Amino acid sequence: MTASFPEDFRYVLVDETVLQARVRELGAQITHDFQGEDLRLITVLKGGLFFLADLSRAVDLPLSFDFMAVSQYVQGVGGAVRVTKDLSDDIEGASVLLVEDVVDTGLTVNYVLSLLRARGPKRLEVCALLDKPARRIAQVPIAYRGFEMPDKFLVGYGLDLDGRYRNLKSIVALRDEMVLS
Ligand code: IMP
Ligand code: MG
Repeated sequence: MTASFPEDFRYVLVDETVLQARVRELGAQITHDFQGEDLRLITVLKGGLFFLADLSRAVDLPLSFDFMAVSQYVQGVGGAVRVTKDLSDDIEGASVLLVEDVVDTGLTVNYVLSLLRARGPKRLEVCALLDKPARRIAQVPIAYRGFEMPDKFLVGYGLDLDGRYRNLKSIVALRDEMVLS
């Protein structure tokens, strides 16, 4: 935990050891399931950054990765509306795994999936580190799921509050008074 993080306002939900072990398990499953395919890991910036870095190294297959960024109606509330950074590579005929930090309402993943599907990949699956089903609006198929989480605001391992705390190594829940202040 970084020294600057106020202890009184957080509690650890997934510590680094448990998190890294689960990422290795997901990597092993993906290795098993995508043998012989043209595997592309696609991540939505910025939250998926660390998950992509660790997951891709836990997959023992040739692969490439690419990035997208989307804007939202209200930052962090879901409901992506437009692409602010598009993929660099064509995905037609490829086996695409969308690597997401967290699925909350499901609106962001749903939007990105529809964009990707229109480009004709051979296969399109979702790998989400965290699943927060309580506020789901759009049902999204999550083929690979790291952890189911309660309806709390989470930071760390890529997840932010106003751009901060992404570099925490654990998944931490912020107490409500911290999020609202
Ligand atoms: P959605 O509600 O599923 O569309 O999620 C939209 C985006 O909100 C995610 O990609 C994250 O960037 C962000 N988000 C959702 N829940 C959390 C959280 O607990 N902490 C930080 N960001 C979150
Ligand atoms: Mg975010």
